[in-house]
Amino acid sequence: MSKVVVIDHPLIQHKLTFLRDVTTGSKDFRDLVREMSMLMGYEVTRDLQLRDIEIETPMGKTVSKTLTGRKLGIVPILRAGLGMVDGILQLIPAAKVGHVGLYRDPVTFEPVEYYCKLPTDVGERQLIVLDPMLATGGSAKAAIKFLKDKGALNIKFMCLIASPEGIEALKTAHPDVDIYVASIDEKLDDHAYIVPGLGDAGDRLFGTK
Ligand code: PRP
Ligand code: URA
Repeated sequence: MSKVVVIDHPLIQHKLTFLRDVTTGSKDFRDLVREMSMLMGYEVTRDLQLRDIEIETPMGKTVSKTLTGRKLGIVPILRAGLGMVDGILQLIPAAKVGHVGLYRDPVTFEPVEYYCKLPTDVGERQLIVLDPMLATGGSAKAAIKFLKDKGALNIKFMCLIASPEGIEALKTAHPDVDIYVASIDEKLDDHAYIVPGLGDAGDRLFGTK
């Protein structure tokens, strides 16, 4: 069964408050999404494997740790997932970046796919799918199914805010995918928006309506 990790570090919760605030403009919103993603990245990458190597410090030889094992790939769900990419790349500059373009039909709330470009070796990578919002779960479920159809075997999902319904839907559809989130909010409204949430993440990031 999926592990659900709520990352309640004080710095992340503090930034989330400003992210939610309706008076926060696009520039600050983008900065906050990037900063939160970087901080959350520590937890998402906690199980990366290490191996010992021998190095020489100015004081002499020693054995020290270096990353090994599966390479990383990050996959933002367009558009809003783009805002999370730079924060993760600050931690792991060598990660490859794939893109999955989905938008939610405003009437049916069903995800509609319009773009996909992935690293060729997705099956060998630990993938981290990024999207600030997990509302009905439709977009995340579709993106992850898409990645699995292309051969992905190891996937984690990272979002900033989720609804309880979205968490349940994603866990049920993809029980092998662990979910990392800064807050599980109260509910969805009649338009499938998260309450209290932060509104439309894509519009707030890019200044659209
Ligand atoms: C938002 C958000 C998620 C999706 C979540 O994207 O970024 O991708 O909705 O809703 P769901 O869990 O009910 O699928 P949106 O479709 O608004 O597209 P955008 O990122 O281009 O604004
Ligand atoms: N998409 C968003 O950007 N926000 C929500 O609350 C739900 C879906």
